[in-house]
Amino acid sequence: MPRPWTGTLVTALGGVLVIVGLMQTSVAAQGASERKMEEDFKNIKSLRGQPAEHLLPTMVYFEAALGVGCPYCHDNDAAKRELDSKPQKDVARRMIDMVNAVNKNTFGGAPRVTCFTCHMGRPAPIGMPNVVGQALPPALGEDYYANLPPAPPVPSMDAGQVLDKYIAAVGGAGAVQKTPSLVANGTMTQRRIGRPFPAQQVEISSKAPGMQLIATRAGQADNLVAYGPSGRWAKAGNGAARDLRKAEGDATVLEDVFNLSAQIKQILIEPRMDRPEVVMGRELNVVRGRTQNLPLVKLYFEKESGMLRRLVYNIESSFGPYPTQVDYSDFRDVGGRKVPFIWVISQVRNREFTWAMQNVRAAAVEDSKFAKPPAATAQR
Ligand code: HEC
Ligand code: HEC
Repeated sequence: MPRPWTGTLVTALGGVLVIVGLMQTSVAAQGASERKMEEDFKNIKSLRGQPAEHLLPTMVYFEAALGVGCPYCHDNDAAKRELDSKPQKDVARRMIDMVNAVNKNTFGGAPRVTCFTCHMGRPAPIGMPNVVGQALPPALGEDYYANLPPAPPVPSMDAGQVLDKYIAAVGGAGAVQKTPSLVANGTMTQRRIGRPFPAQQVEISSKAPGMQLIATRAGQADNLVAYGPSGRWAKAGNGAARDLRKAEGDATVLEDVFNLSAQIKQILIEPRMDRPEVVMGRELNVVRGRTQNLPLVKLYFEKESGMLRRLVYNIESSFGPYPTQVDYSDFRDVGGRKVPFIWVISQVRNREFTWAMQNVRAAAVEDSKFAKPPAATAQR
């Protein structure tokens, strides 16, 4: 717990604000004999006016907040801390100025924001929320990261080859032609830590190359999410059908795992290989790209079988992207097509949805099933 240092910074920043911001006399009350940093040290710019006594605790606080050592910001010659030989030192000065300004302008001078607020023991703050169950990168300091084995290199193969292997692994175009439409029945169970939800019955109707309707039983009327040639839409219970937002629509198409192999090459823009990643103990091939409305999509394929095991996509917000992750398992053969019977959608906000199919079968489905219901009837 960095409590004692927080206390130190509170005092330190309070001092800055008093001097720079409020011009009150409380500094004088601390005693004229107190030495200032700029009096005892050679190259003080951002910490001017702070008690010289605070210099070393402040430096230790920086180390703690960023998970680094003195030479991260300072010259490797420990006798020359006054030198500005590393860019990090100037970045740190800008950060000090920023923290002082934020506390002054936004928090009325109260020292609410500290280096640790953003950095939390890491040189690069984590700006993106994590999906439920996914640990944040550990904050174990420079030495830990310096001694990690090197990350595996990006494989030299073409992303298109990996996508082709996946398309073949799930049966290829031939299987889709033979079994173009599927109907699946099962349950969707939401899990939110600390709050139980009952399993809901779901029915998924799917038709190649890109039509899907998901009906979730909810009381009298089903909740529907669908897309097809005539649009992408959703309808909650007896409410009016609405068009999906653009990003939501792309996400719906990506999450349609029954039709993904038939569409992936059209919807994934600029696919390329990324570093392999270990998922549940297995190293998987990773293809990354984007869609028209999603800034990042990552697909994780088994090296040997070519099967898709994980999908991650980011949705953009006004303050940065957030991820959704889908993990697929229990692959079975349905009319020559290999489809997952279980998938788990892990979202941010501690939400997790397990989709478990009891039954997936080949069945004829009319195109009209995927069409958005007319507004007039829905609104009455
Ligand atoms: C995150 C970056 C950072 C880290 C880590 C850091 N410092 Fe500093 N240090 C600074 C900055 C920035 C200044 C100058 C502050 C200013 O301009 O007001 C400074 C100034 C100093 C000074 C005053 C030098 C002078 O004479 O002007 C000393 C001494 C010092 N640091 C020692 C250390 C020691 C010892 C450590 C490790 C325990 C350390 N620092 C870790 C950023 C850092
Ligand atoms: C409001 C959030 C926030 C606060 C508070 C904050 N930082 Fe940062 N800091 C950042 C971000 C974001 C970056 C990365 C910038 C980038 O990637 O270009 C960063 C980068 C840095 C870096 C450069 C790291 C590198 O190697 O690239 C240093 C050094 C640093 N901060 C020091 C500090 C110190 C010291 C404080 C407290 C006085 C502090 N920061 C407070 C957000 C913050």
